[in-house]
Order: sequence, then structure tokens, then C-alpha cells
Amino acid sequence: SDTQYDYDVLVIGAGPGGYVAAIRAAQLGLKTACAESRETLGGTCLNVGCIPSKAMLHASEYFDAAANGAMEEMGIEVSPKLNLDKMHAQRRDAVKGLTGGIEFLFKKNKVDWKKGRATFQDAHTVKVGDETVTAKNVVIATGSSVTPLPNVEVDNDKQVVVDSTGALELAKVPEHMVVIGGGVIGLELGSVWRRLGAKVTCVEFLDEILPGMDGDIRKEARKIFKKQGIEFKLSTKVTGVSVEGDKATLTMEPAAGGDAETLEADCVLVSIGRKPNTDGLGLEAIGLELNKRSQIETDHDFRTAVDGVWAIGDVIPGPMLAHKAEDEGIAVAENIAGQTGIVNHAIIPSVVYTWPEIAGVGLTTEEAIEKAGGDKAKVKVGKFPMMANSRAKTNHEPDGFVKVVAEADTDRVLGVWAIAVPAGTMIAQAAQAMEFGATSEDIAYTCHAHPTHSEAMKEAAMAVQGKPIHI
Ligand code: FAD
Ligand code: NAI
Repeated sequence: SDTQYDYDVLVIGAGPGGYVAAIRAAQLGLKTACAESRETLGGTCLNVGCIPSKAMLHASEYFDAAANGAMEEMGIEVSPKLNLDKMHAQRRDAVKGLTGGIEFLFKKNKVDWKKGRATFQDAHTVKVGDETVTAKNVVIATGSSVTPLPNVEVDNDKQVVVDSTGALELAKVPEHMVVIGGGVIGLELGSVWRRLGAKVTCVEFLDEILPGMDGDIRKEARKIFKKQGIEFKLSTKVTGVSVEGDKATLTMEPAAGGDAETLEADCVLVSIGRKPNTDGLGLEAIGLELNKRSQIETDHDFRTAVDGVWAIGDVIPGPMLAHKAEDEGIAVAENIAGQTGIVNHAIIPSVVYTWPEIAGVGLTTEEAIEKAGGDKAKVKVGKFPMMANSRAKTNHEPDGFVKVVAEADTDRVLGVWAIAVPAGTMIAQAAQAMEFGATSEDIAYTCHAHPTHSEAMKEAAMAVQGKPIHI
């Protein structure tokens, strides 16, 4: 430990990036502190993101199965009654348990939690609340927050126009919820309230939902959500929302321009993306500039342009995902300790936790063809429908498919995409196979247990060679 500084490492932000970086740094023998302005540790993910949204998704899935016919189909007749207060209570319990768990891990690993907002004085001196902390290395892991939409004022307390945080806390099921943005948050939280009884309309600026995902997956996902009762207005731009009492009126127009129309709602969820948290951090004091998207740029080791200052997670480029932030947290700590911490940004799975789940890793078909100079013959695709998977069929889960994208010359797997009830769990094997440089044949000749949804992955890989068994 360098006696010139209070700490070897000060991490700013205790989200999945920051808390993991702090714990790993401490494990590596570095004297470590972590500044966090929130009352609890865990960042967006544990407090208002991944965890509470999954708690509501899981609970609402049970309700949906009971209320909307899935249980009845299997011979279970029930008349469920929603106790929304209790559903919220179990969500809060999940959050409390996990954020408390991080506090325990900090104590166990001797990471000092500095409570308060951090502001740089210079590259090695940070004010946290009233305290001044010096550190040889400072890791910026301040995460992200909701991107505001012009002319739309979010007021989570009023529960009429809300962001994701407000949408987790609604005290009653809206009659009509309009979701602005057909991305991950809109579809997950829209699904929660649809299952609990709301009519849900999703307004998306682009001509398809879930930008960034494989084209076939995007289309199939929308078909499934539509069947579940979510209405979509694609290629539509929201130009403003006015609120009167507990009712909102949205004005919208075609994205390409044209006649305006209005839509009434008693709840509007703004979910058009998130932006990096850099305001008030005092970056000007250390001369650190942001890129055009207001992100902090780093090199492969997560060093910023300022010596001794590192950055990870949602505040740097790349997908805004908890597991990406966590892996960067481990890597940055290892790099600070003089080891070699690497994150393979080409293989980061992404999962939408709807029913069924939607997951992918690596290149989309469109990206693979583009990388091959537009030559479709250089890319092979194998697809297998869940309808033909014995387990999914037996479970009354016929929707979706698995798709394996491979390089034609080498058979190397470039990407895997899936819509299937447990797609989020299934995608891990695809990520691992790709890390090992697998060919589709490697996956096809790996024995998969029967009957499992994962057999659809094996058969999709067999389909790359044109020879699945079950279709
Ligand atoms: P954050 O988790 O945002 O943490 C940053 C922390 O830094 C915050 O606690 C903040 O208070 C603190 N901070 C900021 N500035 C300062 C300062 N100056 N001083 C002190 N503290 C500061 N990702 C997934 O992978 N899976 C999911 O299922 C998923 N679900 C999500 C659901 C929702 C509703 C939302 C909003 C996000 C979801 N995400 C999910 C995204 C995930 O939450 C983020 O990618 C992840 O939290 C990023 O981690 P991070 O450590 O970079 O930042
Ligand atoms: P997003 O980027 O996933 O989706 C935003 C959507 O809004 C896009 O489809 C975009 O085209 C659309 N949009 C943008 N401006 C619009 C406008 N003016 N009108 C209508 N539509 C508009 O962002 P989202 O859903 O807010 O999520 C933010 C981040 O949180 C994501 O980057 C995601 O990675 C992360 N997250 C991850 C989850 C997961 O991993 N399961 C769950 C929830 C969030």
C-alpha cells in the first residue's frame, strides 16, 4: 500500500461495476474504498433495475398463468386475486436482501464504504460528501440514468408519467399504459402490467422493436407480444405528453412526418434509453473529456486519458448491462493490481426477461452478412422452432426458436439467438462455446440432456449443416 495516499483504489459508484471492482481489488490485497451516494449499495441494478424488475416479472408471470388461461390449460382451475401490495413487498424484500448482501461482502472483504456524492478535486483527490479521500487509482463506475424525452416530464410520485423506477412502484394497475420505446425496459415492464390487467400500447420510433437484436428475432418477438395483447405503434414519434389530473394525453406523429394523433392513457412509461452519469463528477478538474455520446472513453485495460483514473460499466461505451459492468469490474481491478484483466466485448450475452425470454450473443445475421462484405453465401444459418422441441411442447410453450449463425467457410459460430421460455439460461452455453471458438458442428455433436429446451440449440446447430432430426 502506498502511504502517500489514503487508499490504493477508490471506486466511485457501487453498482455491479463498482462493487465488483472494489471487492476484487480488496481480494487482490489493495486498500480499497467505494463511494456511493445512494442509501444502499448495488447501484441501478440491485435497487431499481435488474432485481426489482425480475421480482415483478416473476410474480406477474404466476398471476398471468393463473388469470389468463395457462394453468387452466393444464387442468388447474383457480380464480386468482391480485394483492399488489404484497407483490410489491416481496419485490422490496428481494432488493433489501441483495443490497444488504453487498454491504456484508464489503465488510467481509474490508472495503470501506464512503457515503456521499463524489467529486474530483484532482486525479488522486476526491471529495465524498464532506470528506476528502486520496487514492492512487480512481475507478469511475457511476453508471447511467434515464434519458429524458423532450416535452415529457417524468413525475414518479404522481404515477402518471413515469420512468422505469416509477413503473416498478405503481400502487394500482393502470387501465391503459402507454410505453414510449419498444426496447428492453418497455417490453419487460409493459409485460408486467399487461399480465396484471392493464391494456398496454407500445410506441416505437423505429420500424421494429428491440433494435440491435437479430432481425428474425425482432419480428417473432413482436408477433408473440401482440398475441399476448400488447399493441404496437411502430415508426411513430411521441412529440409531447400533457397531464390533467390522473390522465395523460400523448401527441404523436409518424416518424417520417405527417399528421399528428393523440392517445389517452392513465400511465405513460418513458423508456427510450439511458445516458451515462457524469454530471457533477468534476471531470473538468482532471481534464477528462467525454465522447459525442457523453461517455468516458477508455483503452482495452479500462484506463481513461487521465493517468490513475479508470472507468467501467454503463458510463463507458458498450452495452449497458450488469454482467458487462461486473466483468469490467473484475478486469479493471486485476489491471490495477498489475495482472492482465480482459473482457471479450464481442461475446456479451443480452437477455430480455419477458415470457418467453429473448436472448442473443455475438453477431446478428445482418451483422454477419455485413462483415462478410454483403455476401450472404458466406454466412450459414440454422433455425429450430420451439414447437418441435419436446419439452417446450409438453410445457405448453410453443413460441419461439433458436437460431445459430455460423461462418460458411469455417463453420465457426458467429452468433446465437433464441426466443424460448428459458432462453436467458440457454444462452450461456452459446457464449461459452463461442469463447472456445466452437463450430456449429461442435454444438451439434455435444450431448444435450433430453427432454430439455436446450436440445433446440443442438438442433439449430444441426440445422446449420442442413440435418436436424426433429423437423
Ligand atoms: P449503476 O448500477 O448505475 O451504478 C452506479 C452507482 O453510482 C449508482 O448507485 C449511483 O448512485 C452511483 N453514483 C453515481 N454518481 C456518483 C457520484 N458522483 N458519487 C457517488 N456515487 C455515484 N442489466 C442486465 O444486465 N440485466 C437486467 O435484467 C437489467 N435490468 C434492468 C432493468 C431496469 C429497469 C434498468 C433501469 C436497468 C437494467 N439493467 C439490466 C441495466 C443495469 O442495471 C446496468 O447495466 C448496470 O446497473 C450498470 O452498472 P454500473 O455499475 O455501471 O452502474
Ligand atoms: P433501449 O435502448 O433498450 O430501448 C429504447 C427504445 O426506444 C429503442 O427501441 C428506441 O428505438 C426507442 N426510442 C428512442 N427514442 C424514442 C422516441 N422518441 N419515441 C419512441 N421510441 C423511441 O432502452 P431502455 O429500454 O430504456 O433500456 C435502457 C438500458 O437498460 C438498455 O440499454 C438495456 O441494456 C438496459 N436494460 C437491460 C435489461 C436486460 O438486460 N434485461 C432490462 C432493462 C434495461
